[in-house]
Amino acid sequence: MKLLHVVGARPNFPKLAPVLRAARAAGVTQVVVHTGQHYDEAMSEGFFRDLGITAPDVNLGVGSDTHAVQTARIMERIEPVLAAQRPDWVVVYGDVNSTMAAAIVASKLGIRVAHVEAGLRSFDRTMPEEINRLVTDRLANLLLTPSRDADAQLRAEGEPDEEIEFVGNVMIDSLFFALPAARATGFRKSIGVNGSAVVVTLHRPSNVDDPVRIRTIAAVLSEIAKDRDVVFPAHPRTRRRLEDAGLKIDRVQMLEPVGYLQMLDLVEHAFAVVTDSGGLQEETTALGIPCLTVRPNTERPITITEGTNRLVPEPEELVSLLREVVRPATPPRPEGWDGHAGERIIAALTRRRSV
Ligand code: UD1
Repeated sequence: MKLLHVVGARPNFPKLAPVLRAARAAGVTQVVVHTGQHYDEAMSEGFFRDLGITAPDVNLGVGSDTHAVQTARIMERIEPVLAAQRPDWVVVYGDVNSTMAAAIVASKLGIRVAHVEAGLRSFDRTMPEEINRLVTDRLANLLLTPSRDADAQLRAEGEPDEEIEFVGNVMIDSLFFALPAARATGFRKSIGVNGSAVVVTLHRPSNVDDPVRIRTIAAVLSEIAKDRDVVFPAHPRTRRRLEDAGLKIDRVQMLEPVGYLQMLDLVEHAFAVVTDSGGLQEETTALGIPCLTVRPNTERPITITEGTNRLVPEPEELVSLLREVVRPATPPRPEGWDGHAGERIIAALTRRRSV
């Protein structure tokens, strides 16, 4: 069996790593194509190193642009690669532009597509990721889901049972794998955080591209930082928006984007996490760290029903909600969040190899 994995943006890499490892252990031939959607060291190569996976075989170098240009560029550059490689499966991850672009091209070449993290829905089409999820799931031949709500959603959308397989959460495979190395970094202490800090990541266009909203968020974070350490590794998009608005967030420790291991070290010891990231809603659930998600919705409802997550549509509410957060006695363990999703993905692909 030959797999061709397509990744492109930061959140894809922790999803790829466990699948690569499980495939290697099973003697599967594989090729990794990086679209180049993310390209800074801290957003890309650093993650491969932290996750203990080898550099991609092919990098399409597409870089940043509008959604249409970026998607088109990926499609144009990946077509000859897929045509030459002709894998049994193209495996795509998550919900970024690279995911959707690769799924479209593979489908039109008649190559089967497996989608890791299928079936998640925010029901909010103002999010580019929701469009990517809908298109990718419609085209994929195998829908590998992280939670049972995703299975139910895909069935409700008319996907046939035989194309849906619950495999559990591959992000959590990476989390368990990397925790010892994350602890060994000593990163948190190295930046002077000794107690438990509020760790912030915000990068969604809906939070940072609106000048009024980003100003409110900055004021709220500054208020929170009167009581506790606040550490905010800022995505390049966020940093640019803060600069454009001439904003400096008083008392908050701003950092450049941090590596995967450094982030885990911060999050594992956090008082709480304030975020709009998908992955962090899951990682905080698995670690039992309270998470406040600055969004009106989430495509990961299990992090609320079984986890530690809470939606905070209005940033002003963060100040009082942070005073109420409670840490669970033991971290929640939703079904399939057990560190073995990668193996189940390889088993599912192998079983259907010649369907
Ligand atoms: C993308 C994903 C989003 C994911 C996020 C994680 C889509 C639609 N969005 O959003 O789902 O949560 O990645 O990081 O695919 N930039 C750099 N260096 C880089 C990459 C980006 O400076 O290595 C800057 C560029 O100015 C770029 C901007 O960040 O224009 C946004 O990058 P882009 O990949 O378009 O979207 P993200 O906001 O990163």
